[in-house]
Amino acid sequence: MNFKYEVATLLSSCLNKNIDTLLPLIEVPKNKMGDFAFPCFSLAKEFKKSPVEIAEHIEKTFKTNDFITSAKAIGPYLNFYVNKQLFISSVINDVIDKQQDFGKSSIGKNKMVVLDYSSPNIAKPFHVGHLRSTVIGQAIDNIHQHLGYNTYSINYLGDWGTQFGKLIVAFKKWGDKETVERDDIKELVRLYVKFHDEAENDKSLEDEARNWLLKMENGDEEALQLWAWIKNISLIEFNRIYDLLGVSFDSFNGESFYNDKMTPVIDELKDKKLLIKDDGASIVSLDDFNMPPCLILRRDGGTLYHTRDLASVMYRKNTFDFHKAIYITGGDQILHFKQLFKVVELMGYEWAENLEHASFGLVSLESGKISTRRGVVILMEELLTEAINKTLAIIEEKNPTLKNKEEVAKDVGIGAIIFNDLFNGRKKDVVFSWDKMLSFDGETGPYVQYTCARANSVLRKAKTYDFSNIDYNLIANDEVLHIATLLNDFTNKLIDAKNKSEPYILTRHIIDIAKAYNKFYHDYVILDDDINVRNARLSICYSVKTVLTIGLNILGINSPEEM
Ligand code: ARG
Repeated sequence: MNFKYEVATLLSSCLNKNIDTLLPLIEVPKNKMGDFAFPCFSLAKEFKKSPVEIAEHIEKTFKTNDFITSAKAIGPYLNFYVNKQLFISSVINDVIDKQQDFGKSSIGKNKMVVLDYSSPNIAKPFHVGHLRSTVIGQAIDNIHQHLGYNTYSINYLGDWGTQFGKLIVAFKKWGDKETVERDDIKELVRLYVKFHDEAENDKSLEDEARNWLLKMENGDEEALQLWAWIKNISLIEFNRIYDLLGVSFDSFNGESFYNDKMTPVIDELKDKKLLIKDDGASIVSLDDFNMPPCLILRRDGGTLYHTRDLASVMYRKNTFDFHKAIYITGGDQILHFKQLFKVVELMGYEWAENLEHASFGLVSLESGKISTRRGVVILMEELLTEAINKTLAIIEEKNPTLKNKEEVAKDVGIGAIIFNDLFNGRKKDVVFSWDKMLSFDGETGPYVQYTCARANSVLRKAKTYDFSNIDYNLIANDEVLHIATLLNDFTNKLIDAKNKSEPYILTRHIIDIAKAYNKFYHDYVILDDDINVRNARLSICYSVKTVLTIGLNILGINSPEEM
C-alpha cells in the first residue's frame, strides 16, 4: 500500500491534474503537522490564486477515503492525515516481509553507474582525503545498489608519474630492501621526504628522477621492476586499510593502466582540431569557458594527469556504456574535472553531461586530539587503530563481560569515523573530535548501533514472538505512527541522496529513526503482559532494527548484535 500515491490520486481528482506531476511534490512534513503535506506554491500561477487560497480550496473539495482520513489547510500547505492503523500495518508488514530487501527499488534497473573513489597515490601516504573519498564513494555506491543500479567501483590508483622517479633515486641512494619490506609505506614516505630535503640543495637529483621516469616510460626492465615492487609494497598498506574499513573494489586499474591507451585519444583531439601548440606543449584551449587550458602533452612529450583521465573516461564509456560516471575527490580538483568534462563535451560526446564530480571538504582536526607525530601526515592506519582502541576502552568500562569485544570495538570504532564523515553535506569540512564521534548518546554512529543492539536485546529477551497476525490497533498511537512514517520514507530519502550524491541525507534519516524509536522505547513497556500488545510492540523493535541495519550497511557500517 503506497499512501503517498493514495494522496496523489485523491489530489489529482480534486485538482484535475496528472498524478505523476503531483507525486514528487508531496512531502513528509518535519513539523509533524500532518502525515503528508502538499505545498501549493507551484500551482499559484496556473490557478491564478494565492497558495493559501488554493490550500483552502483543496480542503473544501478533497474527498477522503479509508486510507487518507482528513485534509487540513494550514497556510499555503495542505496537510493530510492517514488512517493510523492501516498505515502502520502496511509499513511494518512490508519491513517484516522484505527484511534486508526493504526499501529496494527498481529505478536503477539496467543502468550502470561507474564510480571512481579512494584512488590513493602509490608510494605516498594514504591521507585523510583518501579516507573521505573511500567512505563517501562507498556510501554513494551502496545507495545506488539498493536502488537497483548496477555499479562498478574503480580505485584509480595514482601509480605512475614523477614520484616514482624520485623514489627510485632515493631508494638507490639511501634505502635498502629489508627496511622497505619491513616498514612498507612508512619507509617509502621517509625516502620521499628525504629526497625533497636533499633536492633543495642538489638540483641534479631532480634530473636523475626525471631520467628514471623516462626509463620507466621506455620500458626499462630495472625501472619497471622497481616500480612494480614499490607498487606492491604500497598496496599491502592500502589493503590493510580497506580491510579495516570493509571496502572492496571491482577494479584497481590506476593511471598506469592507461599508458598504452592515450595515443588514440590524443589523435582524436588532433583530428577534431582541438589540440593546439602552446609554447611547445599541446593543450586544449578553454578560454571561451573562462578556464585555464587543459594540458595534454608536456613540452618534452610527456603525458599528464589530464591525459590519463581523458583516456580513462573514454575507456570506461566504451567498456561499460555507463548511465553515469561519478568521481569522488577533494574540492581541490574541482577545476581539473570541470576541464576534463568540458573537453569531452568539446569532442562532441553528449554523454559528457553524465559525468559528475562529487567533491568534498577538508578534515579539520580538533587541535591536540589527534597525534601528528609524523609531521604533516597522519597515517590512516594509526587513526583507524586508535578509534578501535578507544572504543575497546569504553567497552571495557561499560560492558566488560561482552562477548567478541574486539570485533565489536572494530565495528563501533570504524563505524564512528564513517558516520562522522557522512553526517554533514560532503562539501562541508569535517571536524575530527574523538569525544564527540565516539559518544553513545549524540548524533553518532555508536548511538545508532546502540539503538539497534538494544532493540536486539529486547527481541532476545522476548525469546518468541509472532508477527503473523498483529493487531495494529493496539499500537496505533502517534509515536508508532511517527516511526512508521520515517520507515516509509526510507526509499525516498535514498533517492534524494542519490540525486544529490549526498549520503548525509541517509545518515540524518537513520538518526531520526533511532530518535523516534528511542522515544517509543522510553514511553512504552515493550514486553507487556498482554501477549498481543507485546507482539505488536516487538514488531516495531524488529522493523526499526532491520531498517537501521540496512541504513548503516549502506553507509558502510556494521551493526553488532550486542554492545
Ligand atoms: N590520485 C588522485 C589523488 O590522490 C585522485 C584520483 C581521482 N580520480 C581520477 N580519475 N582523477 O588526488
